[in-house]
Amino acid sequence: QEVVFSGIQPTGVPHLGNYFGALSQWVEMQNAPGTNRQLLYSVVGLHALTMPQDPKKLYEDRMNTLASILAVGVDPQKAILFFQEDVPQHAELAWILNCYSMMGRLKRMTTWKSKLAVKEGSQSSDIIDDSGLNLGLFTYPVLQAADVLLYRTTHVPVGEDQRQHLELARELAQKMNRVMKNDFFPLPTTIINPAKRILALKGSPPQKMSKSAPDPRSRILITDSAAEIHDKLRVSHTDSIDPESLPEDHIPSLDELSPNVANLYTILSCCTGEDVSTLIPRYYRRRYGYLKADVAAAVDAKIAPIRKEYERLRKPDGEMWLREVAEMGRERASAIATQNLAQIKKHLGINTL
Ligand code: TYM
Repeated sequence: QEVVFSGIQPTGVPHLGNYFGALSQWVEMQNAPGTNRQLLYSVVGLHALTMPQDPKKLYEDRMNTLASILAVGVDPQKAILFFQEDVPQHAELAWILNCYSMMGRLKRMTTWKSKLAVKEGSQSSDIIDDSGLNLGLFTYPVLQAADVLLYRTTHVPVGEDQRQHLELARELAQKMNRVMKNDFFPLPTTIINPAKRILALKGSPPQKMSKSAPDPRSRILITDSAAEIHDKLRVSHTDSIDPESLPEDHIPSLDELSPNVANLYTILSCCTGEDVSTLIPRYYRRRYGYLKADVAAAVDAKIAPIRKEYERLRKPDGEMWLREVAEMGRERASAIATQNLAQIKKHLGINTL
C-alpha cells in the first residue's frame, strides 16, 4: 500500500512556493485515480518552535495554515489532515531516532550550516560558534524523519529544499531496520514537483520564495488580493537587459534566461499549465511589463477561488469546522501512530506489555 505523508510549518499563510512546490501536489495525489493510497498531511507546530514564536500569533498561524490547506482543495474525508503536535508519538519517535542519529551527519545538513553562517555573518567555518542556537534546530531533520517514518510512509511530495532532509529519513529507515532486525520501515521516495523551486520576486542573488524573508513584497500569498498581486509583480526584479536589444534569431531556453526572469515564466507556466517553451517566444524581446501583467492576471485567476474559500473558512463559524477537521485528523492519525510506535518499541525491546 502507498502511504503519502507531507508537512508544512505553521509560519503564516502559504505562498506560491509552498503552493506550486507542495500543496498543489498534495491535492493532485488526493484526486489521482488508483486509490489504495493513504494520505496524511500535517501542520507541523513542533518544527515551528525551533524559531522564536509569539504564542497568540502561532495559534492564529496554525489555524490559518489549516484553513489554507482546506482552501487549496485538500478533502479531510480523503486525506488525514492533522496537527503534528496533537499526536505525541511524533515526539516520542523523534527521541528514539535521536539516539541513532550521528552528530557528524547532522552537522553536515545545509539548513543547519546556513543557520551557523547567518549567526557568524561570514562563510568561514574555521570557528564554528553554535552556542546561541537551540538544540531543536539541530535535531529538526530527525523530527522530520520521525513524521515520515511513524506512518511507514512510502512517498513524500515536497519542494526541492526538503530533498536533503528526506535523504536523512531514508538513511534512518535503513539503520532502524538493521537495528530492529526487521524491514519495518519502507524507504520513503521523495516526489519533487517539476516547479521544484519558486524564487522570491525580489532580492539578488535570488533566493527561494520564503515566508521569513523580511520584504513581504518578495512573496505572493495564496490569499493575496488582485491588487496586491499586481503591485508585487510590478515591482518584482527582472534584469537590466534591454529586451529589444536581444538577437532575433535565437529564442532562449529557460536556463539561458536570468533567474528572476525565468522565475516569472515558471510561475506563469504553473498557473496556466502551458509549457515554458511555448510561453518564452510570446514575450521574448518585449518589455518585461507585458510578461509581468500576464503573470499577475494568471496568478490572480489561479488563486482567486482559493482566496475566497480561505476567507469563508476564517469567518467565526469557520473556526468550528477547522477544529472539527483537526479533531477528526488527530483521531485517525493517532490510531495509526499508536499501533506503529508500539511495534517499533517492541522491535527495540522497550515494550512492557
Ligand atoms: P515548509 O513549511 O518550509 O514548506 C512547505 C512545503 O513547501 C515547499 N516550499 C517550496 N517549494 C518550491 N519553492 C519554494 N520557494 C518553496 N518554499 C517552500 C517545501 O519544500 C515544503 O514541501 N521541514 C518542512 C516541513 C516538514 C515536512 C515533514 C515535510 C516537517 N516534517 C515531513 C515533509 C515531510 C518545512 O519546513 O516545509
